[in-house]
Amino acid sequence: MNNRKPVTLRNLREMHVLGEKIAMLTCYDASFARVLDAAGVDALLVGDSLGNVIQGHPTTLPVSIEEMAYHTACVARGNRTAWVIADMPFGSYQEGTDLAVHHAVRLMQAGAHMVKLEGGGWTAPIVRSFVERGIPVCAHLGFTPQSVHALGGYRVQGREEDAAGLLRKDAKELAAVGAALLVLEMVPANVARDLTQQLSIPTIGIGAGASCSGQVLVLHDMLGLMPGEPFRFVRNFMDGATSIELAVRQYVADVKAGRFPDDKLHSF
Ligand code: KIV
Repeated sequence: MNNRKPVTLRNLREMHVLGEKIAMLTCYDASFARVLDAAGVDALLVGDSLGNVIQGHPTTLPVSIEEMAYHTACVARGNRTAWVIADMPFGSYQEGTDLAVHHAVRLMQAGAHMVKLEGGGWTAPIVRSFVERGIPVCAHLGFTPQSVHALGGYRVQGREEDAAGLLRKDAKELAAVGAALLVLEMVPANVARDLTQQLSIPTIGIGAGASCSGQVLVLHDMLGLMPGEPFRFVRNFMDGATSIELAVRQYVADVKAGRFPDDKLHSF
């Protein structure tokens, strides 16, 4: 067990300002929450990637708000000190702000400290209304898995100047309406670096280079549990580790020391 006090949003902001990297992993149940918290992971993301890694779906689209609330409650019961973020699943915020607030409240009551939603532009009024109601928000730009069909598959986003410009505009707008964290997924490392320097809120990268304020990986990817060729941005931390807790401790240490990700190996 670690002796740290519960991680707060204020701590995460301070880490961004001081240049201490934030180590985040996805987590879906109480047992792993206990291990990840004890290993010093700063933030646990109850990702809708549970649709892929727990439920075996090809995408995150079938995950329901009831399933997200269930897994959030499991994680909250196992966790002691890490910051807990719960994903708003597909369909839980697309239909309008009132329904979105209703679903965000569900996740907060299940034990989340913050909710995450994907996309920019049209999400700004939703983010604003969550923040006005005391619900902290993590935004998610770049490759957004709930839009996998619209985006034409798993592809890097923001390579062309127009696309990078839109990403910058969306990120600044989301920060202006109160988003407190921003996940950048599969974004060129130079674009993510510039955004991290320009924004006052922490950026958390997954396939977005070493210059983000922090990093997140899907737990089952970094434990080498998923079949098939891993994404370029994944490292299997079970390689050479004698236990899951030691693998997770190595991840935390490597993120904090700037050893993971290595832009030459893991970035675009
Ligand atoms: O659902 C998830 O695991 C995520 C991460 C990939 C950032 O959104």
